[in-house]
Amino acid sequence: MNALKLFDLTILEKCKLYLKENPNLLKGKAERKMARVIGIVSGKGGVGKSTVAVNLALALKEFKKNVTLVDCNLSTPHLSYYLGTSDYTGTINDVLRDKIDVHSALYNYNGIKYLPASAKFEDLIGIELAKFKKHLSKLEKNADFVILDAAPGLGKEALFVMDACKEILFVTSPHVPMISDVVRCKEVLRQFGEKKMSILTNMVTYGTQELKKNVIEELTGLPVLGEVPHDSNVMQSMIMKYPLLEYKPNSLASINFMRIASLLTEKDYEIPMKVKWHKLMMGVRNFLMPNEIKMSDNAEDVKREFLSNF
Ligand SMILES: Nc1ncnc2c1ncn2[C@@H]1O[C@H](COP(=O)(O)OP(=O)(O)O)[C@@H](O)[C@H]1O
Ligand SMILES: [Mg+2]
Repeated sequence: MNALKLFDLTILEKCKLYLKENPNLLKGKAERKMARVIGIVSGKGGVGKSTVAVNLALALKEFKKNVTLVDCNLSTPHLSYYLGTSDYTGTINDVLRDKIDVHSALYNYNGIKYLPASAKFEDLIGIELAKFKKHLSKLEKNADFVILDAAPGLGKEALFVMDACKEILFVTSPHVPMISDVVRCKEVLRQFGEKKMSILTNMVTYGTQELKKNVIEELTGLPVLGEVPHDSNVMQSMIMKYPLLEYKPNSLASINFMRIASLLTEKDYEIPMKVKWHKLMMGVRNFLMPNEIKMSDNAEDVKREFLSNF
């Protein structure tokens, strides 16, 4: 046996030994390929989906995750406003028209990958939504999380996201009509097979006119992953063309996005006292300035009162 072959064999043996000692090495790689694809969905527009998509993506990055954010609201794309970006050479519209490969339409935004949608009306012509799932599967290989910002409601655009994702995060305000939308969407989602579903309540004011977390969970049969309070910094950050998490990382809403990301990544995150104080102060406000409208703390009462909608 010549010296070169002997050298090769030694390397091979070393590799085998190393893999034997580190059995998770190969397993880890295979698992990493399967990104968690989360669709950010809602019954109606304006509840905060795009805000959640952008800030959750950035919060996941803070937990050292590889994140891809996709604007799937093709008719009214908004993510670029929240990121403060523009002038793209390629978009998801080009991908869905088979003009370019999905990877060449990805942009790096401060450590996350971003696939924008075109704001030009004419770029809607010729797109094939049916191809979305196929293109998306390519993105899964290089990410821990793929976050899809969906169009609202149950139209064609929203449905293709619901079909393509593996998990659904319903964004809703804590009010009866929006919660009934979640129940309706959940019914529709059944046709797309088994998906992990949870709720994020947004623009929460902790007022008595709002449904409480336990009531929402009982009415929908889904867990509430987190609550993001109503925070004027959200709107300000958009005007300043920065995502909230970068513009005001210590704001109440940012902290709650971090908290939700920590739950998704199963990483520790200590909630600053500020959040606990805020909730306490809202409780004091409710006590000192009672609102004549008070939603019941009992899901059965709510069902009885709004029976026709559930
Ligand atoms: N937690 C929040 N506090 C205050 N304003 C918010 C919050 N979340 C979203 N908003 C505001 O609500 C509006 C709609 O949000 P957006 O994320 O665009 O909703 P959607 O994508 O569901 O249509 C925006 O003006 C945004 O600034
Ligand atoms: Mg939106």
